[in-house]
Amino acid sequence: MSQFKQRVFSGVQPTGNLHLGNYLGAITRFVELQNQYECLYCVVDLHAITVPQKPDELRSNIREVTAAFLAAGIDPSQHIIFNQSQVPEHAELAWVFNCVSRLGWLNRMTQFKEKAGKDRENASIGLYTYPNLMAADILIYKATHVPVGEDQKQHIELARDIAQKFNKDYAETIGMSGFGEAFFPLPEPLIQGPATRVMSLRDGSKKMSKSDPSDYSRISLTDTAEVIAQKIKKAKTDAEPLPSSIDGLVGRTEADNLVGVFAALSETTKEKVLEEFNGANFSTFKSALVDLTVDKISPIGAEMRKLQQDPQHIDAILRDGAERARLIARDVMKSVKEIVGFIQ
Ligand code: TYM
Repeated sequence: MSQFKQRVFSGVQPTGNLHLGNYLGAITRFVELQNQYECLYCVVDLHAITVPQKPDELRSNIREVTAAFLAAGIDPSQHIIFNQSQVPEHAELAWVFNCVSRLGWLNRMTQFKEKAGKDRENASIGLYTYPNLMAADILIYKATHVPVGEDQKQHIELARDIAQKFNKDYAETIGMSGFGEAFFPLPEPLIQGPATRVMSLRDGSKKMSKSDPSDYSRISLTDTAEVIAQKIKKAKTDAEPLPSSIDGLVGRTEADNLVGVFAALSETTKEKVLEEFNGANFSTFKSALVDLTVDKISPIGAEMRKLQQDPQHIDAILRDGAERARLIARDVMKSVKEIVGFIQ
């Protein structure tokens, strides 16, 4: 895969309630990767409408995710921040991928099963083919690395399968057009750190999610210090003190989760956190976690609120990002059309 330029792509859905899981599992990694790679970070509004959205809320949520990217420290002059619907090549390539991807592959996607639930017949076709669009998001930029939380691993694997099948199905025209052995790279998921799967504060067996009906299940990036403190104090735990090593967290999902969050926020490891809190009870640990979370999250929430007061500024950043993204996407789509056999 060394023939491909290294490039990072990732996306976040503008569906409201951006939370600590999104921040620790994805957005903080986005920030770190800026120093090493050329990055594109996308607000995936086409994905958001796979379930019903109110137009005004959608617009506001697109700006909220953009504000979170900026507040967390992504630099839109060095990298590209944009919303998906402003680059039509995503949807165009997704159609080609609808014809490459297989029904059997999509039938295995656990996120569709979870989201569609029991009322599967009534789910949108978009929700079903969602992973094909996600593959198009990544591959329209020939991105090689994709930072995501654990829950997106299966989708990235599908993107690799689609890239591989496209390369194989069209091997002859790819070779004839001078693209070498493979046209698309096989993108690698980057799932790293102690908080790749942050769990609900109410139930350690469920992941923290934007759609959980209980607001107490998650810490939103725009929560005030008081709300953060209340939510952490109410978070479910067990009766034991904290153990001395991570082996002692086995079977204690809630404790494990809070230790992971502490480690991620303080940029250390769970082992180090347990060295410090070995034997402590939860009231002590939670107080320290409240201070740390408020310290790290409140400034981001405040900056997001400030940025959202100037929607025109946010929209201008998205427009500029989309123009720059399109320069890459147009080129790749042109080659795809040539490979597939379309006249242009
Ligand atoms: P989304 O919007 O659900 O989540 C955005 C990012 O946050 C991560 N994440 C979590 N990480 C740790 N703990 C959690 N509880 C948690 N919840 C969410 C997600 O893994 C994700 O990285 N399908 C994607 C968006 C997408 C995309 C893409 C991502 C569309 N196209 C192309 C990468 C590349 C999604 O729904 O993420």
